[in-house]
Amino acid sequence: MVKRSRILGCGSYLPANVVTNRDLESRVDTTDEWIVQRTGIKARHIAAEGELTSDLAVAAATRALEHAGVDAGSIDCIVLATTTPDNTFPATATKVQAALGTKGFALDIQAVCAGFVYALSIADNFIRAGQATRALVIGAETFSRLLDWKDRTTCVLFGDGAGAVVLEGYDAPGTSADRGVLSTHLHSDGSTYGLLYVDGGPSTTGTTGHVRMNGQDVFRHAVSKLSSVVEEALAANGMEPSTVDWLVPHQANQRIIDGIARKLKLSTDKVVLTVDRHGNTSAASIPLALAEAVHDGRIKRGDVVLMEAIGGGLSWGAALVRW
Ligand code: UT7
Repeated sequence: MVKRSRILGCGSYLPANVVTNRDLESRVDTTDEWIVQRTGIKARHIAAEGELTSDLAVAAATRALEHAGVDAGSIDCIVLATTTPDNTFPATATKVQAALGTKGFALDIQAVCAGFVYALSIADNFIRAGQATRALVIGAETFSRLLDWKDRTTCVLFGDGAGAVVLEGYDAPGTSADRGVLSTHLHSDGSTYGLLYVDGGPSTTGTTGHVRMNGQDVFRHAVSKLSSVVEEALAANGMEPSTVDWLVPHQANQRIIDGIARKLKLSTDKVVLTVDRHGNTSAASIPLALAEAVHDGRIKRGDVVLMEAIGGGLSWGAALVRW
C-alpha cells in the first residue's frame, strides 16, 4: 500500500460584480469582437472595493468543506496559491486559517497562474510524507488589483475569484486505478522571467506594481510547454490521452486550450471551459472550473481529470487525478 491523497470535495466563489467586454469598451480602446476573437473571454467578475483575496478564499473554502462534509477543525494544512495576497506578509493563508478555525499550519505559495497545480502538488506531498492528513488547497485572486487600466493588452484578460478542494490522505494499492492525485509535474524557467511579471514589489519599487506581459511569446511558450507537461503526466501513469475523461485547464485563452485539446485528440465536450465567463483568474481558474464541472455532474467518481497551467516565471505544471 502507498499513501495517496484523494479529493473529498470542492467549492468556489465569484464576486458579484460582472464586467462585460462591452463595459470595457467605454473604459479602454478595445472591442468585444477583438477580445472574443483573440481570447474567448466575454465577461469577468471583479471584486468589490474592500473585498479581499482572503474573503474570496474563505467563501470558496467554506463551500469546499460543506461539499466534503468535513469540519474545518479536522483540517491540519492550508496551501493557498495567490499572486495577490491581502498584505505582503503574513501569508493570506493564516487569515483564512483564523477565519475558518483550521488547525496545523497554513502557507501561501506563489506560482502565479500555475499556482493551483503547485499548491495541489505541495499539499499532496505533505500528505504522502505524513506531515498532514487533511488539507485545504485554495487558489484565490483579486488579480484586478494588479491591472493597469491604461494597458489594453493586459487589462481585458483577467478577473477575480477563488476555488478550493479538500484533500485527504488514505492508504491505496498504488496503481493508476487508485482514487486521488496520481501524479503532479512541476517546472519553471527563470530565464523567461521578463515575459510576464509585475513591475513592482517590496524589494524593488516598494509599490505593488502592475502586470506586464509579452503576450505573443507567452502564448508560444504556453502551447509547447503545456503540451509537453501533459504528455509527461500521462506517460508517468502509463496512460493514453484517450484515458482522460476531463481536461480542466488553466483558463487564460480559449485558443491555447483548443490547441492542447487538439494535440491530445480530446473532443471539446471533454474540456471544462470557464474562460468565456471568468476571464483569466490566475491561480483560481482551475479550482473554479473544477468546482463547476463537479457540481453540475459532469465530473463523476472514478473519472480521470487532467489539469495543466502556465504562468509568470515562467512556471508550469500538470496534475493527473482520479476523481
Ligand atoms: O495566464 C498566464 C499565461 N498567459 C497567457 O497564456 C496569455 C498568452 N497570450 C495571449 O493569450 C495572447 O497573446 C493575447 C490574448 C494576450 C494577445 O493576442 P495576440 O493574438 O497575441 O495579439 P497581439 O499581442 O499580437 O496583438 C495584435 C494586435 C496589436 O495591434 P497591431 O500591432 O497589430 O496593430 C495590438 O496592439 O491587437 C492589438 N491589441 C488590441 N486591440 C484591441 C492588443 N490588445 C488589444 C485590445 N483590444 N484589448
